[in-house]
Amino acid sequence: MRSSISSIFLGTAALISLASAADLNVPACPATVRASFNQAIPDLAPCPLTTVDLCYTSTALNLVFTASGETSFYFNPSHTTNGDIWAYEVMEAFIYKGTDNPQTYFEYEVSPNNVTYNAFIYNPSRVRAAGTPFDHAFVTDPFGDGFKVTTALDKPNQKWVSSSSIPLALFNAENPQGTNWRMNFFRTITDATTYPQQKLCGWKNTNAENFHITPSFGTLAFV
Ligand SMILES: *[C@@H]1O[C@H](CO)[C@@H](O)[C@H](O)[C@H]1NC(C)=O
Repeated sequence: MRSSISSIFLGTAALISLASAADLNVPACPATVRASFNQAIPDLAPCPLTTVDLCYTSTALNLVFTASGETSFYFNPSHTTNGDIWAYEVMEAFIYKGTDNPQTYFEYEVSPNNVTYNAFIYNPSRVRAAGTPFDHAFVTDPFGDGFKVTTALDKPNQKWVSSSSIPLALFNAENPQGTNWRMNFFRTITDATTYPQQKLCGWKNTNAENFHITPSFGTLAFV
């Protein structure tokens, strides 16, 4: 009896330390937690500030992306859902439910034109190593599936804000309190003169000109 009580106690202590050790503790909405970054990947050069405010409901992960210091609002107007918006300006979240370095995760992006990219990424090397498989499975009907997005450009204040809602059923994660996640957040910056070159900005440095390095993903506890 004594040993089972102490193992319950130790189990609870381990859970508490896991939650408090996460980079971000994500609350139930309407409270939010903020990830913010203002450095380039991989050289840590200055990037304009980007923030991501996160919270969860019983059925959705809500993300509010805010890009400050925006000057070009550069996108390709011919792009529609799941187009190559990543070649222009986007804000991005790579999302995985679990604590390990994932080989499969969800890539979500939104452009200043309110177009989204929604794909599960298959990256068995975890670092997109040359000569290894790297594949995408698109979510082809995100709005039919319950995704939501709205995007507002504020050109006088050099800012754009995109509010997104991603169904938790995608991750088998409804009612997510107590779950642990790995994520990274990014922003690409380019304009008509520098395209196709981009400045890559990120929350957790991947130490490469490559976002698909999953050991670099941050840790998030849904509390
Ligand atoms: C953005 O796209 C979504 C999904 O099509 C739509 O519901 C929303 O009204 C769009 N417009 C803006 C300005 O956010």
